[in-house]
Amino acid sequence: MLAVNNIEKSFLTRCGNRPFLALHDLSFTVDNGEFTCIIGPSGSGKTTLINLIAGFLRPTRGTISLRGHSIQGPGPDRGVVFQESALFPWFTALQNVTFGLANLGYRGRKGKERALYFLSLVGLEEHTNSYPHQLSGGMKQRVALARVLALTPQILLLDEPFGSLDSQTRQVLQEVILRLCLGQKTVLFITHDVEEAVVLADRILVFGPRPGRIVGDFLIDIPRPRREYPTAVRAWETRLRSYLGFKKLHPIISERGVMP
Ligand SMILES: Nc1ncnc2c1ncn2[C@@H]1O[C@H](COP(=O)(O)OP(=O)(O)OP(=O)(O)O)[C@@H](O)[C@H]1O
Ligand SMILES: [Mg+2]
Repeated sequence: MLAVNNIEKSFLTRCGNRPFLALHDLSFTVDNGEFTCIIGPSGSGKTTLINLIAGFLRPTRGTISLRGHSIQGPGPDRGVVFQESALFPWFTALQNVTFGLANLGYRGRKGKERALYFLSLVGLEEHTNSYPHQLSGGMKQRVALARVLALTPQILLLDEPFGSLDSQTRQVLQEVILRLCLGQKTVLFITHDVEEAVVLADRILVFGPRPGRIVGDFLIDIPRPRREYPTAVRAWETRLRSYLGFKKLHPIISERGVMP
């Protein structure tokens, strides 16, 4: 589905003569329908990776392809949600979701019906005519989710989508995303919250400190719903945290039989 091949990304900075290396020789693949979480220290290049896959940035080296097509720029086959949802403040929730659907052929009533359907999927049927400033942070993220889901992208790229929410709202939205995506959508979900990753993911990739590279690749084998298995969740959290402090370049740990 998604293939990231030997990606390197460096940035030219104003103060340094040398380019700033954010990602170094990064390779991994994501299978169709797989829910993958990425955790890693701040500054390890997670957002840079999302921007590269989204096509907002170009890699310095390497290639990224989706269903065999090389990514050359942004496209509707990838739906992106960031921590702070970029909703249009002058549009209602409904108009925010409808916008963009016209390009896919959903115009007029068809567009409105589709937007209402996706807003109801995220539990916002009562707030379709509210403006972003009238919505809570969690509601805004629901609108952002409805907006990308309505475009039926091939992959969802979520960069700490619940990062600014309180833990209760976060938990509710985790359940929403699992209900809508698990086993149905290919998802790449970045989070700082190790417990969130364990609760959500089929697979977790752990990034080491900058320049970003993969130091762990784990299949999470806890039955779902995961919150019913708190001991197993805690055990995975402890194990993953030990990799987050990883300092050395080697060895790379993989449970998939494929060295990332
Ligand atoms: N446009 C840019 N120009 C220069 N440096 C950049 C640019 N974008 C990112 N960086 C640098 O690349 C590194 C990786 O940044 P990135 O935002 O990808 O990290 P991150 O893993 O998402 O961190 P966080 O967990 O804090 O969100 C950082 O050191 C950052 O300063
Ligand atoms: Mg980031």
